[in-house]
Amino acid sequence: MNGTDARIVVRGVQKTFPAQPRAIAVLDGIDLEVGNGEFVAIVGPSGCGKTTLLNCIAGFERVDDGTIEVDGVPVAGPSPRRVFVFQDPAIFPWLNVGENIAFGLPRTMAATDRRAIVERYVDLVGLKGFEDAYPNQLSGGMKQRVEYARALAVDPDVLYLDEPFGALDALTRHEMRREIARIRRATGKTCLLVTHDVEEACELADRIAVMSPRPAKIREVFDNALPHPRDPDGEDLRALRVRIFAALGSDRRV
Ligand SMILES: Nc1ncnc2c1ncn2[C@@H]1O[C@H](COP(=O)(O)OP(=O)(O)OP(=O)(O)O)[C@@H](O)[C@H]1O
Ligand SMILES: [Mg+2]
Repeated sequence: MNGTDARIVVRGVQKTFPAQPRAIAVLDGIDLEVGNGEFVAIVGPSGCGKTTLLNCIAGFERVDDGTIEVDGVPVAGPSPRRVFVFQDPAIFPWLNVGENIAFGLPRTMAATDRRAIVERYVDLVGLKGFEDAYPNQLSGGMKQRVEYARALAVDPDVLYLDEPFGALDALTRHEMRREIARIRRATGKTCLLVTHDVEEACELADRIAVMSPRPAKIREVFDNALPHPRDPDGEDLRALRVRIFAALGSDRRV
């Protein structure tokens, strides 16, 4: 990517948290670009500052130094055009699936339009027939699907994903990764994912940025142009994972 079509531009970002007995330096000059419609994953060791970086980019945290711009505009706080998907589904237990998905839609929207949007996203995430179910009647994977549908229903410009499959069992994780890759291809949304899971990053992302331990910099960025659907057991993804583990300082071979 040449940078001219970059939608999210992070330059020289520094972040230190005040703490006793000494301040915790977390981000130490982060540079990163995410292009329009691109899916970028950030991987890094536990505690290196992945969530902090995403919180800064999403406008939940202020940076100490450096700049973060989206579409050329400095980020001053969270925006409804950019939606955050958390590790634990944050759907409302007192609303059913359809109501959860419709939650972010403008109050002034006509009921028929709301229904059409709900129907479209219920379909997209594979929850047809569950519109009236309540979260306590759903599995973890289904709740995560509701979370995605709700995020997508407002037609955001960008999705920020922080370990979005962390709370799921291994099998559901695998299935949800497939689903997210499919949904993302269907919607073409710009996505920025942080994860400690290299396999997940390689299966989903167009580019993978590797963070160093804290205080973190971006150590290396890997291109991943392999076609979808990607076979996690395929030779190409395996080879990419080995290179990423090496950049992380690990000698893991898978
Ligand atoms: N609000 C805060 N106040 C003080 N320290 C913080 C705050 N938020 C994060 N930290 C510290 O910043 C460091 C990075 O935390 P962060 O959650 O960004 O890491 P992470 O890479 O997302 O970790 P994990 O892989 O466990 O999710 C940690 O040492 C953490 O203790
Ligand atoms: Mg984190």
